[in-house]
Amino acid sequence: MTRKYALLFIPFIFILSQCRTAPNADRSLAKYTGTIGDSVMVSSAHPQASKAGIDILKQGGNAVDAAIAIQYALAVVYPRAGNLGGGGFMVYRDAKGAFKTLDFRETAPAKADRDMYLDDEGNAVSDWSRFGGLSVGIPGTVGGIFESHKELGLLDMSVLIQPAIDLAENGFQLLPAQARLLNEKREDIEKYSPPNCIFLQKEKWHAGDIIIQKELAATLKRIQKDGLEGFYSGETARLLVEQVNKTNGIISLDDLQNYKAKWRAPLKGTFREYDIYSMGPPSSGGIVLLQILGMIEDQPLKNYGFNSLPYVHTLVEAERRAYADRSEYLGDPDFWDVPSNELLNEAYLQKRMENFDPAKASISDNIKPGKLLNESEETTHLSVVDLEGNAVSITTTLNANYGSKVWVDGAGFFLNNEMDDFSAKPGVPNLYGLIGNEANAIEPGKRMLSSMTPTIIEKNDALFMVTGTPGGSTIITSVLQSFLNVAEFEMSMAEAVNAYRFHHQWYPDTIKTDSNAFKGDFIEELNRMGHAHAEREPIGRVDAILVRPDGNLEGASDFRGEGAALGY
Ligand code: DON
Repeated sequence: MTRKYALLFIPFIFILSQCRTAPNADRSLAKYTGTIGDSVMVSSAHPQASKAGIDILKQGGNAVDAAIAIQYALAVVYPRAGNLGGGGFMVYRDAKGAFKTLDFRETAPAKADRDMYLDDEGNAVSDWSRFGGLSVGIPGTVGGIFESHKELGLLDMSVLIQPAIDLAENGFQLLPAQARLLNEKREDIEKYSPPNCIFLQKEKWHAGDIIIQKELAATLKRIQKDGLEGFYSGETARLLVEQVNKTNGIISLDDLQNYKAKWRAPLKGTFREYDIYSMGPPSSGGIVLLQILGMIEDQPLKNYGFNSLPYVHTLVEAERRAYADRSEYLGDPDFWDVPSNELLNEAYLQKRMENFDPAKASISDNIKPGKLLNESEETTHLSVVDLEGNAVSITTTLNANYGSKVWVDGAGFFLNNEMDDFSAKPGVPNLYGLIGNEANAIEPGKRMLSSMTPTIIEKNDALFMVTGTPGGSTIITSVLQSFLNVAEFEMSMAEAVNAYRFHHQWYPDTIKTDSNAFKGDFIEELNRMGHAHAEREPIGRVDAILVRPDGNLEGASDFRGEGAALGY
């Protein structure tokens, strides 16, 4: 069997092993672990991308170099979310414990305005913010890659992009879920992309089909040769603007040239003996995660037990309150004064839980965003730890699967539909059912509020966990559970990542779970307490790394996806 062919089976083996150890809400788990290594580890949404990262580490690259190679590779082998046409966030911790966070979120075009998605009657038209050129924000990924490389990279950019160029030129094999999703989204892609889009060249895709992307390879080579300019100006920029304008868009060449990734102050919080570093605004991820942890810290979660009634109830009530705050207070800090300290104030968080009834669900209609005390947020995630102990946590997205469904003719990549993460109209839910207000209203140049939560956690000042996931509004609660499952319930990284998850986001006032996460009588108990419950498609696809007590690294890639954790 060739090496390439063998790699195709990694996900099958992983799913099979998962079936033997299916996560169980009553915690009768057979103990199992993910990939173990004593030197380096990467975990990402595609085996070929993880391999690109590992190869860079073997050549002496650091965690940031590996993360860059993974991002470029994902843009080729994971087109639903891996991207050049999207954006994201990075949390970085160097081996000595210094943190940096990079914001490469998309921005609204200069011609954007707050009512751009309202029809003549003032109703929000969700198709306008979700499909086609008008839904596209100015892409930040390439800007973010170059900024992180300038500050922290070791190897030449040209070396880091080469694995992606090879994958685009020589082709990659479709994995089973990738083929299914492409077939499912074909109609949408046909509507918004040119007929020569590579993903439309077969009526029906099958696992194992090989996709060669010549135009994307040419774009990657322009970036290799001209750097940032190879994307934000010249041929690539011209093709991008042309495509967006053909599908009702408003992006200009100036918008592209003006894009800048930004270093932001890392957001830090604590939970018991852990220090948690995550992404601040314009992502809501870090603040909402820390708010929830702050609201539940005084509860005996461990005694309650994994996914027990009091555990689920306690988390849901905290989530309800934190997501209510998100809707009112969070937006791009360059445009809106975000009261981060007030929202994370201990007394405030305690007050938020004052009306918490351990026996009864509150009703979201009665829970409003809190009164602050006066005081002096399809996506993909990757985690990397290198030989020195530097760690990278990056979540990057096109928003929906294949973003706006606009594929840039001649340049070979999909563009995001991130504009839908703005609040098109107060109280009108976006793709993920999230509602927002003034703080997240559309303004030219502004970044739309995100839920992405790339996170790095320390225990006793040493690296403990690198975690993150896609999943829209459920990102925050998936990251929360990946951490609590290890910290409170002593699961391995793989157990924690694969365990059943639940989620509540204020509205809709319903606990959403993976299918089969909760059993019939358990659901009846929740209903008696006043909680509505509904199953949904799998929640999140976490890619995480844990430093185990023996010092070894354990990488885990969620069974819900087709990714791989690789290390040695
Ligand atoms: O930034 C955000 O919060 C969303 N655009 C993320 C989208 C996402 O996670 C889709 N993946 N399932």
